[in-house]
Amino acid sequence: MIPNGPGRELRRRYTPADLDVFTSDEASRFVPGGDGDPHHDVVLAWELLYRLEPELYDRLVSAERLHPGVVSWLPGDVDRIAEVGAGTGRLTMELIERGRHVVAVEPAMPLRRILRGKLAAADHGARVRVIPGFFDQLPLPDDWADLVVACSAFTPSPGHGGEAGLAEMERVCRPRGCVAIIWPNHLKWLTARGYRHVSFPGPMYVEFGNNHEAVEMAEIFYPKAADEVRRRGWRKVPFDVLGINPPRDLAFKVLAG
Ligand SMILES: C[S@@+](CC[C@H](N)C(=O)[O-])C[C@H]1O[C@@H](n2cnc3c(N)ncnc32)[C@H](O)[C@@H]1O
Repeated sequence: MIPNGPGRELRRRYTPADLDVFTSDEASRFVPGGDGDPHHDVVLAWELLYRLEPELYDRLVSAERLHPGVVSWLPGDVDRIAEVGAGTGRLTMELIERGRHVVAVEPAMPLRRILRGKLAAADHGARVRVIPGFFDQLPLPDDWADLVVACSAFTPSPGHGGEAGLAEMERVCRPRGCVAIIWPNHLKWLTARGYRHVSFPGPMYVEFGNNHEAVEMAEIFYPKAADEVRRRGWRKVPFDVLGINPPRDLAFKVLAG
């Protein structure tokens, strides 16, 4: 029996047997007690999605585009950028033109594979280094980057960032450099740690290729909205209908000199 609550359709896709897909480093962060159950834990179900159905995940994020104001707010002409939790590159592809050297840190191997494929197809394979790693143990030297950024990846929970992860992002950022958390899920937690908030206005939509795909994806990821998406024949679905905050916010800190 799958309990009701957020992410029920996603939770029902996986079982505890699927946890074998995690490496030991992943398991120590995502199932620290060793006994997780994706039927009950939506965060765990997302981690399984990244590894077991990475193309499905990529179709979702390709439709959930960031507010253009968020990308243009970021420093535009810097030497080094580190992105953590890069996924399949929703933000990474935008960073290519903004830094001379970009390192994309991503723990999930299937997402790194998709991101490398996109970079190669865009002829940027050499400009961006895609490497494994975690928020709490970034494989980069102190003061390495002018901008350290995470998009829809950092949370206050230790497995997905937490105090250790924020300290690592700040360690890797040079003095007077910028640490930015895009689409933050716990703004208060970040503002309590000296981060400031910027939000960009205007209507925002999740844009699928056609209504058939919009319905298919809504049934999995936004089931409460699926009937309305079907009835209205939408390809572009307003974020308000989905009941989630649109990707229009960022929190940032400029480090002391
Ligand atoms: C919702 S996805 C966002 C991916 C991408 N930044 C984007 O906006 O499309 C969350 C990402 O965070 C990564 N992630 C999860 N836990 C992590 C950790 N402890 N350290 C680094 N990345 C992590 C996941 O593998 C996944 O790629």
